[in-house]
Amino acid sequence: MAKILIVDDEAAQRRIMADILKAAGHRIAVAESADQAEETVGDFQPDVVLTDLKMPGRGGLALVEALSRLELSPEVVVITAFGTVDTAVKAMRLGAYDYLTKPLEKEELLLVAERAAEKYALRAESKRLRQELHGRLAEGLVAESGAMKNILEMVSMVAQSDATVLVRGESGTGKERIARLVHLQGARGARPMLGINCAAFPETLLETELFGYEKGSFTGAAARKIGLIESAHGGTLFLDEVGDMSLSTQAKLLRVLQEREIRRVGGTVTIPIDIRVIAATHKDLAEAIRQGVFREDLFYRLNVIPIVIPPLRDRKEDIPALIRHFLTKSPRPKTIQPEALRLLVAYDWPGNVRELQAVMERVSVLTKAAEITPADLPFELREGSREGGTRPGENRAFEIPPTGLVFEDWEKNLLGQALSRSQGNMADAAKLLGMTYRTFQYRAMKFGLKGI
Ligand SMILES: Nc1ncnc2c1ncn2[C@@H]1O[C@H](COP(=O)(O)OP(=O)(O)OP(=O)(O)O)[C@@H](O)[C@H]1O
Ligand SMILES: [Mg+2]
Repeated sequence: MAKILIVDDEAAQRRIMADILKAAGHRIAVAESADQAEETVGDFQPDVVLTDLKMPGRGGLALVEALSRLELSPEVVVITAFGTVDTAVKAMRLGAYDYLTKPLEKEELLLVAERAAEKYALRAESKRLRQELHGRLAEGLVAESGAMKNILEMVSMVAQSDATVLVRGESGTGKERIARLVHLQGARGARPMLGINCAAFPETLLETELFGYEKGSFTGAAARKIGLIESAHGGTLFLDEVGDMSLSTQAKLLRVLQEREIRRVGGTVTIPIDIRVIAATHKDLAEAIRQGVFREDLFYRLNVIPIVIPPLRDRKEDIPALIRHFLTKSPRPKTIQPEALRLLVAYDWPGNVRELQAVMERVSVLTKAAEITPADLPFELREGSREGGTRPGENRAFEIPPTGLVFEDWEKNLLGQALSRSQGNMADAAKLLGMTYRTFQYRAMKFGLKGI
C-alpha cells in the first residue's frame, strides 16, 4: 500500500486514476492545481505524486521543482499528452522519477506508480537508517570538556564541505571516531567511508590496495583489481596512520589530491575520482618533515582542516563522563565510589580513551559487588603513577591509597617486576630497585622468587 497524490485539473481524469489505484489497494488524495497539491503534500505526506504537466496556473514543472526541494521529497511521475515528451524529459531533469503519456493504460499506470513507491520506500529507509546511525554515533561520543565541545562544533562545520581533514592525536584519543563523524554528518554520509591503515601494509601492497592494478601488471596480477580510492568514489577515503606512508606512496597520494584522478598500477588510462579525504596520524608530522620522512607539500594538502584531539590527561573533565558511559554500556552496570573515581581521574592515561574503555570493561566484569572501590582498580591506577615506581634519583614518594596497603604484597610485586624486567638477572634486578645484590637475594628468597 502506497500513499499517492493525484494532481490534475480535469475531474474525470482524476477519477479514472484514483479508481485504478484504489482498486490496487493504495491510499489516494487528489488536488486540482499545483498550489493545492503543495498544500496537500504537507498533510498527506504522499510517497508518490502523479501530476499532469499542463494545468492552469503553475504547471506540473513548477510543482516538480518545488517538491524536489523538500527534505524527503515524494517521487513524482509526470503525465504528459502525446507529442510533448520534451517537457516530460525536462521534468525528469528537475528530479521527476518517470513519465506517462496519455491516454493512460491501466497496467502501465500501476507499474510505474508502484515502482516509484518502491523507490520512495528505499530512500525513506536509507534516510532513517542514516539518521539512526548518525544519532547513535554522536550520542555515544562523550564531549564534556571545552576542547571536545569545540571539536564537535568544528566537525559539524567542516562536514558540510568537501575539504580534506587531518585528524591528529595520540593513540586511542578517538581519531577514527571523529573522522567517521565528519563523514557521516556530511553530504556523503549515505555513501561509504572506506578506510585503510597505512602502517599495516608494506609499501607495494599499500599501493596496490589504494590504486588497484591492471591484469598482468606484475607476476600474480591474474585479474584487474579496483583500488580503494576508486571504490570510495562518491564517498570518503580514510587514510589512517598516514604518517607511516613511504615517501614514494606519499608522492602518488599527492598527485591524487592535486589532480583528482588516479592511474591503476600498470594502467595507462587516468580515471577521474570524486572522493573526500580524511587522514589521521598519531605522529608529529612537523618532526617527520624535519627528518625528511614526510613530504611538506603533502602535509599542506592534507592539513586543510586540522583537527587536533588532545590527550585524555589534558581534558580530565571528559573522564567521569566517559566512565559513566562505559559503565552503562557494560553488561553488568555498576556504580563507582568517589575515591575510585578520583583515582581514575588522577591517572594520566597514556593509552587515552581506548585504555580507559579497556580498564572499565575489565573492572566491571571482575568486580563482584555492585560498587567499584579503589581496590578493584588495576595496580598502576591505585598507585596513581603511570610506571608504578620512581625513577632513579627522582625522589617522588609513593602515595599510600586511603584504603591502605599490604606492604609485603607491594614488596613481592616490585621484586617480581624487577626480576622479569631484567630477565631473571638478580644483579640487574637489584640495581633496578636501588639495593645491593645480597639484600635483593635475601628478600627474593623470603617470597620464594628465583633468579637465574
Ligand atoms: N569521546 C569519546 N566518547 C566515547 N568513546 C570514545 C571517545 N573517543 C574515543 N572513544 C572510543 O575509544 C576507542 C578508541 O577510539 P579510536 O579508535 O577512534 O581512536 P584512535 O585515535 O583512532 O586510536 P589509534 O591511534 O589507536 O588508532 C574506540 O572504541 C572509541 O569508540
Ligand atoms: Mg585509529
